[in-house]
Amino acid sequence: MNDADSSKIKSLLADMNIGSVNEAEDADIILLNTCSIRWKAEHKVYSELGRFKKIKTRRPHVIVGVGGCVAQQEKDEMFRRAPHLDIVFGTHNIHKLPDMIKSVYEKRGQVLETEFFDSPEPLVYPAPEEGGIKAYVNIMRGCNNFCTYCIVPYVRGRETSRPWGDIRDEVLKLAQFGVKEITLLGQNVNSYGNGSSDGVGFSQLIRKVAEVDGIERIRFATSHPKDLSDDLISAFAEVDKLCKHLHLPVQSGSDKVLSTMKRVYTVGSYMEKVKKLKTLVPHIAISTDIIVGFPGEGREDFEKTLELMNVIRYDSSFSFKYSKRPGTAAADLKDNVPESEKEIRLATLQALQKEHSMETNRAQIGKIEPVLVEGASKKGEAMVRGRTPGNRVVNFRGGEDLFSKTVLVHITGAFTNSLQGELSRLH
Ligand code: 5AD
Ligand code: SF4
Repeated sequence: MNDADSSKIKSLLADMNIGSVNEAEDADIILLNTCSIRWKAEHKVYSELGRFKKIKTRRPHVIVGVGGCVAQQEKDEMFRRAPHLDIVFGTHNIHKLPDMIKSVYEKRGQVLETEFFDSPEPLVYPAPEEGGIKAYVNIMRGCNNFCTYCIVPYVRGRETSRPWGDIRDEVLKLAQFGVKEITLLGQNVNSYGNGSSDGVGFSQLIRKVAEVDGIERIRFATSHPKDLSDDLISAFAEVDKLCKHLHLPVQSGSDKVLSTMKRVYTVGSYMEKVKKLKTLVPHIAISTDIIVGFPGEGREDFEKTLELMNVIRYDSSFSFKYSKRPGTAAADLKDNVPESEKEIRLATLQALQKEHSMETNRAQIGKIEPVLVEGASKKGEAMVRGRTPGNRVVNFRGGEDLFSKTVLVHITGAFTNSLQGELSRLH
């Protein structure tokens, strides 16, 4: 989500003829886009701002701004703690950035914009990277779920879906730029369209995006298991362009923990959905997010998470130690799993995931997969890198002429995080 926002910021600045430099030391405008989902983000932000203060002392014309979740949370408190800051902009205010920058240049005053808006913000097209073949498209913002550990509903507001017409215009534009793969983005994409006027729901949206010429692949992130509908499961089987990969965050394998997290599904109902999906699309890749050390998670609850992993055998997972987020419901619970135990659980879980990733990757050996080539590989000279529909990275021998193309690759080797292949002679 933050990457997509940064890309929008870049595109807005490009429209003002403002380019980018590699080092903050060389910039005239420094913008920090922040995320507070897990770490002690506030602390990090203020320490970065300390560094920018030194730059501003040397070059006083420099404008410094902070956006994103931390800015949304801290609001004008940021000016108090970092008086050299010029701009604080919240998660609903990115489109106002050009005006904010102009205002600072004209009046040299501080600008604060952290208001929430009910309607989706005006269209801001994220800039596709030059020669880029992949792009993110925000289809909704905010979240209504209030999982008890999560800061998102507080810093990104209530769920609002973008009208299909706006999404279509953006996808058409990206296709014209040469983008081939679209990732539809939102905190909970499968509740897209709830309460919207044009009646387009998420699986319909996927089918409509699939009709856009030039778009070869569609992905989406992220989805809440409670909203994984039969309709969406069928879309995986019916829409060729929809990549056969689902990121389905489970968070825990213990019903007790899931209930305290307010995830509103059980391990049983989650498994049922995965089973349905795998029956219909047997080779679909499934990934997940897991939190260890949530308040009240006993050793036996953690064991249940390992058991669930052993049954599902995820292709990959993101796993995190629980960290208390101020203002969330779980912040009132006793964070009773010691840090050392959280670390042990995280390491145990990640070791198991490594085994499963290795196993699922090995199972790809011998297959012929369509690979969208993203660029040069780091694995060696005359090697290129791309992804399978299941989102697995494949490195294989090839030259620049393959960039941006989809080619058939014979998978010949497997590592934990990537595959090795050879351009198929079938091609
Ligand atoms: N502590 C640890 N992990 C968290 N996540 C969200 N909030 C927290 C938190 N307070 C994780 C969840 C989510 C992912 C994006 O970040 O697993 O799915
Ligand atoms: Fe956070 Fe996702 Fe839960 Fe929404 S659904 S509150 S974004 S974890």
